[in-house]
This record gives sequence, structure tokens and C-alpha cells, in this order.
Amino acid sequence: MVRLFCIIITLFCLSCEKKPASSTENKVVSMGENAANLLIKNLKTQLTEAIKQKGPEYALNFCSEKGLVLTLETEKQLAKGIEIKRTSAQYRNPHNAPDKYEQQVLQYFTTSTKKNEKTREYVQEVSDQEKSYYRYYKPLYIKALCLTCHGDPKQMSDNLRRALREKYPDDKAVNYKTGDFRGMVRVTIPKTIVE
Ligand code: HEC
Repeated sequence: MVRLFCIIITLFCLSCEKKPASSTENKVVSMGENAANLLIKNLKTQLTEAIKQKGPEYALNFCSEKGLVLTLETEKQLAKGIEIKRTSAQYRNPHNAPDKYEQQVLQYFTTSTKKNEKTREYVQEVSDQEKSYYRYYKPLYIKALCLTCHGDPKQMSDNLRRALREKYPDDKAVNYKTGDFRGMVRVTIPKTIVE
């Protein structure tokens, strides 16, 4: 397993560079993995159920209306202060656009996917002027289920295609193929919880 610890220092904080003890890194990975897996499980259960019961168009509405709510509900099940986000370079919802730290990690996973490396995670210590915290990232890859709404629009029903165009006029999250790197779950963990 490749486990990278990357320290990001902003211009304001050039003296913050320190490598955390590996026990801290282990805690970040274990908490991050647990939080990311819980979100994935919650999303997958509800998504599969929604498609099965009422079809992809209904599930699409479900995703856009409940996606964020489900993330907040998942956060409530975790230690206080932990925050989760899903992001991607080719995002559907502009709300999920990556920030500058996430962009670097997306690039990292894109490169490692091209090299066929099975990278499981990435950990960052982010320090900026206001606060300092850890970030755990878990990559998401496209499976058959995901193609329903992130695959080739030509394969989608007219209704689903229309609904997507209406809801997300600048949608970048289509034309994926099985196995593609889709994006990631980011888990922010306050230092007070792990140190
Ligand atoms: C029923 C349709 C549907 C299916 C199936 C689906 N998604 Fe999505 N996905 C969406 C919608 C709609 C959004 C935008 C959600 C929002 O508004 O926050 C989204 C957003 C995302 C995002 C957040 C970044 C962005 O593009 O806004 C990721 C990551 C993602 N999906 C990954 C996946 C993966 C991986 C799968 C398969 C396990 C999957 N999706 C299956 C509809 C779907």
C-alpha cells in the first residue's frame, strides 16, 4: 500500500513544515478511511434502492437533492469536527469543485491511475493562516452502476439526458468508462482529535 504524507505549506506559513509522527498518520488514515467508507456505504445503499424502486431519473433527483443532506447526516455519525466532501476534476455540481489542495491530489490520483498503481489513499497536513488540520483522501473509480448517470449520454434514455442537461447545464461528469478515476472523498480531521 502506498501511503504518502504530504505537507502543504502556504506562503504565510513557511515555518510549519514538520513531519507528523507515523502514529498520527496511522490515526488519520484509520479515521479518514472509516468516514469515507461510511459515506460511500450510505450513498450506495440509498442510490441502489432509489434506482431499483423508481428508476434512474428519480435517482438523479435523489442524488442532487439528497447528496449533500446525506453527507451531513454521515458527518453526524462521526467524531465532532470531521467534515466530508466529494470532489472531482470533472464535476457535475459546481458546489463540489475542488479547491487548490484538492486539485493537487486529483492530479496525483490521475497520474497514479495512468501508471496502473492501486493507490488507496492520500494524506495531507494543511496549514494556513487561520487553521491547521489533516485531510484524508480516498479515490473513487467508475463501476457499472455509476455508468447509468456518468457514462455515455447517448446510452441514456431521452428523459435522463434531458433531466441532466436541465439540472446541470455545465455537467463535466459524463463519458466515463469502467475503471476510470472519477474523483475522491475528502475527509477533514481536526488536529485535536488525532494528536
Ligand atoms: C442516479 C444517477 C447517479 C448515479 C448512478 C451515480 N451518480 Fe454520481 N452524481 C450524480 C449526481 C446528480 C451528482 C451531483 C450531486 C450533487 O448535486 O451534489 C453526482 C455527483 C458525484 C460526485 C461528486 C462530484 C461531482 O461530479 O459533482 C462523485 C465523486 C460521483 N458522483 C461519483 C459517482 C460514483 C463513483 C458512482 C458509482 C458508484 C456514481 N457517482 C453514481 C448522479 C449519479
